[in-house]
Amino acid sequence: MALTITIPRPDDWHVHLRDGEMLDAVIGYTSLRFRYAMVMPNLTTPIATTDQAVTYRNLINDATPPESPDFHPLMTLYCTDQLEVQDLLRGHKEEIVEAVKYYPAGATTNSQSGGSSMMDYSHIFESMQEHGIPLLVHAESTNPNIDIYDREAAFLEQELQDICNNFPEMKITVEHISTSAGVDFVNAYETLGASVTPHHLSRNRSDMISPAFHADLFCKPVINSENDRQTLVSTVTSGNPSFFLGTDSAPHPTKAKYGKEAKAGIFNAAYGLEVVAEIFASEDKIDQLPAFTSENGAAFYGYEPSEEQLVLTREQVEIEVATHLSTQSGKEVVLFGTEEASHWTIKAKTD
Ligand code: NCD
Ligand code: ZN
Repeated sequence: MALTITIPRPDDWHVHLRDGEMLDAVIGYTSLRFRYAMVMPNLTTPIATTDQAVTYRNLINDATPPESPDFHPLMTLYCTDQLEVQDLLRGHKEEIVEAVKYYPAGATTNSQSGGSSMMDYSHIFESMQEHGIPLLVHAESTNPNIDIYDREAAFLEQELQDICNNFPEMKITVEHISTSAGVDFVNAYETLGASVTPHHLSRNRSDMISPAFHADLFCKPVINSENDRQTLVSTVTSGNPSFFLGTDSAPHPTKAKYGKEAKAGIFNAAYGLEVVAEIFASEDKIDQLPAFTSENGAAFYGYEPSEEQLVLTREQVEIEVATHLSTQSGKEVVLFGTEEASHWTIKAKTD
């Protein structure tokens, strides 16, 4: 018997949609499958004002295939020196801006405009706490003296802890959580949530470098140890409401993932849901899948789950799936999760 589960249409609480021809090439993967998408603001020119968020949202909507059933991009502003409290509050009041994203400068792709200390932005956090605007955090230390696999833990301890204590009412999401330390940290505060990616749930750091180096698995925060992966899996499959799906789908042309300036980021909008379903199925916890993909995040950000449904089926036969996409000018992007995707079909429930 094939394994089947019906879930509310999922939300993606962390996604990079890019702009230009990359936006055109990737948007359909997200818009045809997900309902809400928390859109990251790290374009080459950061999205730091409400007007920029409006322009970017229009670009996304214009690029969205018309047959997308029920897709809504939710816009974020980049926490940078250009961010102004009055503008943020206007954007939030007018339901243009959903949240603010903090990047430590230098931690990841297009993070040059980020901060060197979270405390520098206390005046912004004050207003966010007062007006119920969530803060989304890339929690990774940029201190080169700290081992890269310890940088999430270091950031949480050295930076985010003080922010949580100083702004105890502010809703904070620790993005793309990658370690047991991260799970413990999130569980210690009621106001905290965490997005978890398909790749951090399904791969470990050995997979990235064994049997050979896989640039396709290079992302930030780096995929961590097998113990960390297992903690993430047991946490999300337990139904813990603080943890929800954020794919961190981050497309880069394959060529950009090699060389001195190799880009961090995994494109998983295409098969992220299949990867996650495979994890829950193999843990015999498929009944907990809807909480993770469609309910916990919605509740955290103040939404009801979608009334539309998707039917996911683990097939007995292997299905052939695409391995790459191509942008209009011919740039190739690798699709993450082809192995898992070859076992699943996902369809909208129509009756
Ligand atoms: C993201 C990107 O490429 O924009 N890369 C990544 O490795 N996750 C940025 C980010 O979220 O860190
Ligand atoms: Zn990201």
